[in-house]
Amino acid sequence: MFNSKIRAMIDKRNIVLVGFMGAGKTTIARMLADRLKRRLVSTDDAIVQREGRSINEIFSHDGEKYFRELEACVVADLSAKTNLVVDCGGGVVLRKSNLDVLKQNGVVVHLKTSPETVYSRIKNETHRPLLNVPDPLCAIKNLMEQRAMFYAQADWQVLTDGRKADDIVNEIIDIFKRSHDTKSRVA
Ligand code: S3P
Repeated sequence: MFNSKIRAMIDKRNIVLVGFMGAGKTTIARMLADRLKRRLVSTDDAIVQREGRSINEIFSHDGEKYFRELEACVVADLSAKTNLVVDCGGGVVLRKSNLDVLKQNGVVVHLKTSPETVYSRIKNETHRPLLNVPDPLCAIKNLMEQRAMFYAQADWQVLTDGRKADDIVNEIIDIFKRSHDTKSRVA
């Protein structure tokens, strides 16, 4: 009885995806939500909805610092929610308090991707203000290096380069099932 009650409670933990821009979080989060019949929440979408303007507009009018405040508010709102798949903006890990909140009721999975793969995915897109620069590959490499220690704080690390989305989704579901008793692993 103890086990089934505790397990039912634990099973409601959110599955939280973190990782660099262009790591495939949105695609994988949608597939996970579909497979597990869970609600999908995107921190970026929540910010855009809250503000009624795009992320580019928020960055250009109010700056990154303001954006990070909004991001922290959206994350704080998730602290009491369960049974979600959460697609986090790439910079969510920059604040330790965000990760602490996300880990409280969720399993945090880092989708790890190489700078070259990120570049190939984002090079024709314009909605990410931090990569709208003359040399995006260089910016990706620099930012990724600066952030490596933050992404390393996720509970699990999943490599994505050269893998099919289905394989990644299966691995995350497997991790989630196995993570009842263990945390902080490289899959
Ligand atoms: C950012 C990532 C973006 C978005 C914003 C800042 C970042 O989300 O939150 O442009 O600092 O890495 P995606 O990772 O979904 O692109």
